[in-house]
Amino acid sequence: MSDTQKLLRRAGEVLIQNYGRSPVVMARGEGTHVWDTDGRKYLDLFAGFGGAILGHCHPELVEAATAQARKLWHVGNALYSEPQIEFAERLKKHAFDGRAFFCHSGLEANEAAIKLARLRGLKDGGKKWKTISLMKSFHGRSLAMIAATGNPAVKDGFGPAVPGFANIDANDYGAIEAAVDDETCSIIMEPIQGEGGINVYPPGHVAKVRALCDARGLTLIFDEVWTGCGRTGRWFAHQYDGVTPDIMTLGKAVGGGLPVGVMFAVPEIAALLVPGKHGCTLGGNAICMAVSRTIFDVIERDDLVQHAANLGEAARAKFKSSSAVGSKVAEVRGRGLFIGIELAAEPVDFVAKSLAKGLITNITSKKVIRLAPPINISAAEWDQGVDRVIDLIASL
Ligand SMILES: Cc1ncc(COP(=O)(O)O)c(C=O)c1O
Repeated sequence: MSDTQKLLRRAGEVLIQNYGRSPVVMARGEGTHVWDTDGRKYLDLFAGFGGAILGHCHPELVEAATAQARKLWHVGNALYSEPQIEFAERLKKHAFDGRAFFCHSGLEANEAAIKLARLRGLKDGGKKWKTISLMKSFHGRSLAMIAATGNPAVKDGFGPAVPGFANIDANDYGAIEAAVDDETCSIIMEPIQGEGGINVYPPGHVAKVRALCDARGLTLIFDEVWTGCGRTGRWFAHQYDGVTPDIMTLGKAVGGGLPVGVMFAVPEIAALLVPGKHGCTLGGNAICMAVSRTIFDVIERDDLVQHAANLGEAARAKFKSSSAVGSKVAEVRGRGLFIGIELAAEPVDFVAKSLAKGLITNITSKKVIRLAPPINISAAEWDQGVDRVIDLIASL
């Protein structure tokens, strides 16, 4: 029995099987590659659902974490620590003039955003507490976030939904406008939908939703958990739309693989979250913050936002023009290194076939291949990865 088989047997005895995992156990990583417990090497084109935005064991992130670990781990949020302040300054520099609340995950950031939007809508005797979210969206797995998420499968089996959420057709501006009533306080949307299939809205759509929120006094929340931190070829995907949200949420990449979530709100709205209204014991942990700060510094110094834009654009053009994939590909979508390749037919065991060829990829919405490599992948590695994905599609 191989090391992997032994570990898988032990896993079956101790881990809840709530993930559709492939039977591979990863042992170590370096850059854009990981190695399993049997020594097989994989090119990582998915970065752990986008978390490993700078790849595996990036030396500067390792150094930031270990230096901070030697200095100060955790003081709790009844006190301040420097790494939180330094990282929030970087968010403000690259996003907009906002104030940060730190937690551990995307869903927690979204929960905080919805609570804040409700506080705003209900203040001074107001009656606004409901949130509009979009079909095919994904916002997390808590009871409130499965209500916000526009995918029936995610809600199924958990009884009556948390009230106050309406899922509306994502691209139908008229329907979104019509869904706003006197009790609506906010709209939450991903600037590009991730789990729903890397869906980019029609031109002008996001700006129209911004204008609607302004006209009706709604809080606009952009869930940038997938799209943030340079992944899409802008620091934040909403920058493509020339608009700013009232609240932005981050997860995944913002911790580089460590558990970090951020709710980032404009000052007037952020000010409503007074002591006692919300919190997170380990949120903004000093080691995580030192890593997040360093991620932003490396992205800026190495111009990785533009790098992601360039590599992504070239790859989409290649997938679209490749005669090898021909009619097997229905559509290629995305921005930067956030790519969806919708196949004409549901593939059988695509992820297993890609792992067998030493590639980590992902499938969402049954037939959309998702690619989201570390954004510091070299042009040569990426070209090679794209060619290997093309070969894989051609062989289906
Ligand atoms: C857009 C979006 N929001 C929120 C979440 C939830 O993040 P987490 O799994 O960190 O709670 C996800 C996770 O995939 C996501 O894609």
